[in-house]
Amino acid sequence: MLAGFGWGYRDRLNMQAFEALAGIVLAAGKGTRMKSDLPKCLHAVCGIPMAEHMGRAMKQIGIAKPVLVIGHGGELLQGSLPEGEYEFVWQREQLGTAHAAIMAQPVLADYDGPVLITPGDVPLVTAEALHALVSKHLATGAKATIGTCRLTDPTGYGRIVRDGDGMVTKIVEHKDATDSQLEIDEINSAIYCFDAKTVFEILPTLSAENAQGEYYLPDAIEKIVQAGGRVETFIYEDFFVFQGVNDPWQLAEASTEMRRRILKRHCLNGVQVIDPATTFIAADVQIEAGTVIHPMTTIEGDSRIGASCHIGPLSVVVSSQVGDGSTVLMSHINRAQVGEDCRIGPYAHLRPKALLGDKVKVGNFVEIKNALLEDGVSAGHLAYLGDAKIGAHSNIGAGTITCNYDGVHKHLTQVGANVFVGSNSTLVAPLEIGEGAYVAAGSVITSPVASDALALGRARQVEKPQWASRRRKKLEQGQ
Ligand code: UD1
Ligand code: MG
Repeated sequence: MLAGFGWGYRDRLNMQAFEALAGIVLAAGKGTRMKSDLPKCLHAVCGIPMAEHMGRAMKQIGIAKPVLVIGHGGELLQGSLPEGEYEFVWQREQLGTAHAAIMAQPVLADYDGPVLITPGDVPLVTAEALHALVSKHLATGAKATIGTCRLTDPTGYGRIVRDGDGMVTKIVEHKDATDSQLEIDEINSAIYCFDAKTVFEILPTLSAENAQGEYYLPDAIEKIVQAGGRVETFIYEDFFVFQGVNDPWQLAEASTEMRRRILKRHCLNGVQVIDPATTFIAADVQIEAGTVIHPMTTIEGDSRIGASCHIGPLSVVVSSQVGDGSTVLMSHINRAQVGEDCRIGPYAHLRPKALLGDKVKVGNFVEIKNALLEDGVSAGHLAYLGDAKIGAHSNIGAGTITCNYDGVHKHLTQVGANVFVGSNSTLVAPLEIGEGAYVAAGSVITSPVASDALALGRARQVEKPQWASRRRKKLEQGQ
């Protein structure tokens, strides 16, 4: 049995969700360094847009509806995220992260409590990391708690500036930092927990007099310190969790790391991954224990793979289901369903709405689209089955084609149970073939075939004895 939809690459949290917590994801930036037409936070990591990774982590710790600040490519981002899960607000002009956060204020006007403000470009963030940050914030009674990390190469990140007592005084952006500040290895992850009232009071007072001419959210820290407010940090050991993605190479690095974590989770759940280096499994894929994933295999979307299957080598499975005990060898499966104990491939192509029962065999160069193959059907070689229903235990001979398209409309081919369709048959739809019937090899079938009948739709064989030797003789005589 396949399990229900879950959170994919994250195991369930065994920690308490917060009762009062708001969340703002800043995702309005263009991401100039991505050199891409897509808004940065829409770029996917293991099949999920970066902003959605953050949104999911927030929801897991009790933020029912994170506020998502959108701007550049906002419609695209909005349309790509699950409906009803976010409160969208617009930042029409991208004047900086502080300006982006202000856009969320009207939604939280009546809210008095802790608010997580995060970027939308930190895909490896986990609910655990957010939970730990908020817990520290609440335990210390700070006005602001910054998620930080120590890096051997902090290039590009904002640096955490501390005084002689080790207390945070401010955050300075890389582009604004002095030479000695650039030496600081503690970086700002841009994930913060603020007291909502405090931060919304301070944000409009910030200036944009800095290297980038932007309103920086990190500048709120210095203001809070100056006003006597307590600022804490939560130092995270696992750099990847807070790694920002600003260019395509960082996107690739984040994807590689998340892929590794997804594969590890499946392996620890009892799935065997022969070669992690060439296996790509998207975040929401579910695989039951006892299944083996062979090299050079990609499983995408919300695919669900049962127990004791063999998937790959060289297979692609997209948003499909594969039942227990089935094998998918060197094949492409897209939005299809495969029952239990089926054998698919090598070189099979299951297209959308290919629905296969149990113990079905689909062999090399067989393409199936919008067709139901009931239990025990065998289509072993070189066939096209489109807009069809094939009854249980029928045999589809090599080279069988359903002619489903007349140039304007698609038509249905219905084949009953226990039918034997001989090789190289052309089934011209709309067509019905009754239970237990035979179609002779090489037939073109245009009319219905009754149950248990034999249908022949081909020219009768003619034989001319000794014709070949007569011809050879003629050729030798130069005729
Ligand atoms: C930011 C921090 C930096 C930190 C780093 C960590 C600022 C000024 N700097 O830098 O201290 O070390 O993250 O990854 O905050 N955005 C908007 N509207 C805007 C500008 C940005 O919504 O006007 C969004 C972006 O879409 C992005 C997030 O804010 O998701 C952060 O912006 P980005 O330009 O990536 O800031 P960094 O340079 O990474
Ligand atoms: Mg960034």
